[in-house]
Amino acid sequence: MTDPTAYRRPAPGTQPPLDAPAYGSTHKRHPKQPLLRIAHTLTETSAPRFTADRYPVQGDMSQVNGKAALGERIIVAGRVTDEDGRPQRGVMLEVWQANASGRYHHPRDGHDAPLDPNFEGRARVFTDEDGRYSFVSIKPGAYPWRNHWNAWRPIHIHFGLHGAGFAQRMITQMYFPGDPLLELDPVFHATPDRAARERLVSKFDLQVTKPEWALGYRFDIVLRGREATPFEKA
Ligand SMILES: [Fe+2]
Repeated sequence: MTDPTAYRRPAPGTQPPLDAPAYGSTHKRHPKQPLLRIAHTLTETSAPRFTADRYPVQGDMSQVNGKAALGERIIVAGRVTDEDGRPQRGVMLEVWQANASGRYHHPRDGHDAPLDPNFEGRARVFTDEDGRYSFVSIKPGAYPWRNHWNAWRPIHIHFGLHGAGFAQRMITQMYFPGDPLLELDPVFHATPDRAARERLVSKFDLQVTKPEWALGYRFDIVLRGREATPFEKA
């Protein structure tokens, strides 16, 4: 059977491996057997898909019931495109992140940092006809993790993208420019190619910035090809 989504595989080093040497939790969770390739059919590549009428847009993480979360309000915006710059329409983006203190709204996060009753840290938006998306949030804080001694994650926002079918899910993380923790982070460095991993760092953008209200960051996502965004293997 011909794979309807056939495409050129990424260049070596431009995507993180399943088992990244310095990223401890990948050691146990990566597959130990060779992967089997299962050709997609139209069922996997065209439908069913997530749509805003069944999965309502929640594009503002900076408040809960009108009460503002603590921290620095930000706007994140960008485009989702394919390898030729063509917009990807109707992509559902789920995003999640820690609060301004570096703690997740999750019972398993035991970091000794305050929770914020007005911050839940999750949003859902869809790309428009031009592949554009945006959401409002609070700049997340760095948090410690136990990968190695004195390990801290650079500030980041997790992204999960759903495309034209339920079988399509791509996961990545967006970082912030100028973060000194980036050079120390095994997750960021799991992508060996510097130019490729730098695509995970958003750019401050005055056009996205809203006067008197919030700084704006731009994060474009390319699904494949030479300029592809590195994606985690979930
Ligand atoms: Fe995280």
